[in-house]
Amino acid sequence: MDMKIGVIKGDGIGPEIVDEAMKVLDRIGEVYGHSFSYTQLLMGGASIDVNGVPLTEETLQAAKESDAVLMGSIGGDAKTSPWYQLEPDKRPEAGLLKLRKGLNLFANLRPAVLYKELKGACPLKEEIADRGFDMMIMRELTGGLYFGKRSTEKVDGVLVAKDELTYSEEEIRRIAKRGFDIAMKRRKKVTSVDKANVLDSSRLWRKVVEEVAQDYPEVTLEHMLVDNCAMQLVKDPAQFDVILTENMFGDILSDEASMVTGSIGMLASASLNETKFGLYEPSGGSAPDIAGKGIANPIATILSAAMMLRYSFDLDKEADAVEAAVEKVLQDGYRTIDIMSEGMTQIGTQEMGDRICSCIA
Ligand code: IPM
Ligand code: MG
Repeated sequence: MDMKIGVIKGDGIGPEIVDEAMKVLDRIGEVYGHSFSYTQLLMGGASIDVNGVPLTEETLQAAKESDAVLMGSIGGDAKTSPWYQLEPDKRPEAGLLKLRKGLNLFANLRPAVLYKELKGACPLKEEIADRGFDMMIMRELTGGLYFGKRSTEKVDGVLVAKDELTYSEEEIRRIAKRGFDIAMKRRKKVTSVDKANVLDSSRLWRKVVEEVAQDYPEVTLEHMLVDNCAMQLVKDPAQFDVILTENMFGDILSDEASMVTGSIGMLASASLNETKFGLYEPSGGSAPDIAGKGIANPIATILSAAMMLRYSFDLDKEADAVEAAVEKVLQDGYRTIDIMSEGMTQIGTQEMGDRICSCIA
């Protein structure tokens, strides 16, 4: 199989972690007889420095023309980086939002798994960690508050800021269907998370999710209020299979879920549209404080590349091989600093990539 991959290395640790994921993809290509070609695309701060904007139309077009996009991370230190002196719509994050919208990537999949080898890094009580967990957070990614109209204006001499939260039934239906489809391939349970005791958008969310559920009689559906969900994630994460939720709730809950796995450096993500195209990126940020030191954990990006193999290229066997290689390296006791614990061997970004490659044969 010949695949064209757009690569956005981005800012901070982005370039280092993406290099390791490309190494792993090349290894897969070698072993399984595929060829991956890469086109470098600029986004975020890296694009601001060259083009003055975080995402150009040409880059968006180039992304559309690839079979999938692999991304590192974008953004810098908001206190010190000149990128944050710019207007909000010219900052690095605006490029990412524009890319998601421009590619219609409405379905964001963020798996949060507690690897048995990393139980020690899980901040929860031992009896909770011992039960393990394996959930998929399905976050709606192109609607809601992040894409509503916003304004800041003076009303009667007082500054007033407004952010609009809108969801149409179509927007809810398409992400709900995706959520149920994915639940069918997992443990067949969907927890739909909303704030239906307060918000109209959540009441519509609940109604549409219930309609969609009719077509999936094998899937158990439950509704949970977002505040309760935040609590349940630390109290009993094993109860979750698929968490289906709107944009902002998913943003917040996925960071929380990542933390209970021990390190955000382990969490992959995929953002999909109606076609096979997807954008694959680690859930973590650009970590400017450790950029360039060769210590960042590349595993989330490598697992994101595995998701690319699975969801965009239908290469399940190859995706399994990458995931198994990651587990093997963890079993062998190798850790980057963020997941380091006593008795293990600490290694850097590149060695982690090399070790994962050598477990793919
Ligand atoms: C994420 C990030 C982004 C988001 C930011 C960088 C705009 O936090 O992917 O979760 O909020 O979607
Ligand atoms: Mg976030």
